[in-house]
Amino acid sequence: MDEYWQQHSERLEYSDGTIMSADANSNPRVSNTGLPQVLLSFLTVYPLRDMPSHNMMSLDNQVYTLSDDADSDSDSDCATRMSLDSFSEATATSRTSVDLSMRSQSPAPSVFSMTNSLRAQAYKEEHGRNLNNYSDVYHLPADEEELERLDRQYEMFCKVAGKYSPPLPEVLADDGFEAKAVLDLGCGSGCWITDVARDFPHCSAVAVDLVPMQSIHMPPNCRSEIDDINLGLEHFYGDFNVVHAQLISAGIRDYHSMIDQISHVLRPGGLIDITEFPFYICGPDKKPIIFPAGAFEPPWVALWTSYAMSAIKGRGGDADAALHIHRWISTNPAFEDVVLRDLWLPISPFLEGNDPETIFWNEIAVTMRDDMKAFLKSGRPLLLGNGLSEEFVSAMEHKACQELDEAKIPLYGHVINVYARKKQ
Ligand SMILES: C[S@@+](CC[C@H](N)C(=O)[O-])C[C@H]1O[C@@H](n2cnc3c(N)ncnc32)[C@H](O)[C@@H]1O
Repeated sequence: MDEYWQQHSERLEYSDGTIMSADANSNPRVSNTGLPQVLLSFLTVYPLRDMPSHNMMSLDNQVYTLSDDADSDSDSDCATRMSLDSFSEATATSRTSVDLSMRSQSPAPSVFSMTNSLRAQAYKEEHGRNLNNYSDVYHLPADEEELERLDRQYEMFCKVAGKYSPPLPEVLADDGFEAKAVLDLGCGSGCWITDVARDFPHCSAVAVDLVPMQSIHMPPNCRSEIDDINLGLEHFYGDFNVVHAQLISAGIRDYHSMIDQISHVLRPGGLIDITEFPFYICGPDKKPIIFPAGAFEPPWVALWTSYAMSAIKGRGGDADAALHIHRWISTNPAFEDVVLRDLWLPISPFLEGNDPETIFWNEIAVTMRDDMKAFLKSGRPLLLGNGLSEEFVSAMEHKACQELDEAKIPLYGHVINVYARKKQ
């Protein structure tokens, strides 16, 4: 499926001044002391393991029960409360993870029970959706509805772009020298990392997210860790052959710095593989459609995405990262063999014709349309939390859904993938 990517060897120049003007480096980094108390409590759950992980709840080969039973009386909850007492705030923060002696070495499976009280601490409800209670930056839901959307979106990406970037199988091949390891930053439902763990059973796979991976079918070589990437990746330095991040820019304060840290996380010859969406919709000419603040005009999906982009920026997220990742990776002296691929996905089935290619793309477009409609719903807490009125957001969402269903305007979502190797 590589033919669908538009591949570039030169840096892409983006003409739109609005998009290019943001400076990711101006974003202040999160400080440990800024973490909400509820988060610190949640992070200390991991001492239920026989050996604590460094900074987060780590679920190796987890047996993970989501229970609705009474909170306070269960054994597991007792153990949790005991463990909360036994750890100070300082040991619960991500920074402590730099201390390698604190990292989990245990191959034993974790067994814990997700009770109502734990769930209440991990998630918060806003406008009828459950969001992570960890990060003030990332403000899209982390509930079942959103995870299902991500699963469907992943399947569609696989059809169009393939499951893995081309060098990955070679990088992860068992060479008999070192145990290969893969890190997925912002794993969401965990569909990608679970596939990697299954397809490369000799590798260890680690998934990081603000919420635990909610799969009871996690392969034995896969581990889920709860952490905020914004707090740093120093504890992973030198540990991985592949680092993958897909569609996480809305929760990342300083993407450029994250890429620099990934260069240290990777082992020599390792693979960085980043995919992002630049939070604009493109017109028939594949150029971004950006609206000024206060606009209320079609194309409505593009308008909605413009407001989503400013809401993400308002919370400190690096909504423009997609436009810079190629430059950031290309200019980082640690990387070589940098490849940039662009993909424009039709967001409604407007293509005409009955040839196999048109049929294929219209099928993708139907999935994209449904994905966009689900995304409009997912984005409500983000937009409403950014000062837009319920009336305004609902009207925009309604018109955008109508526009998607009518499929008259040729509109595209732009997806940017960059992969590169760390120099030997
Ligand atoms: C849009 S989802 C994409 C999930 C997955 N990568 C995929 O492509 O399906 C973004 C994910 O990144 C996670 N995320 C965002 N910011 C994060 C951060 N600062 N630290 C850890 N995870 C983060 C979110 O919790 C969410 O699960």
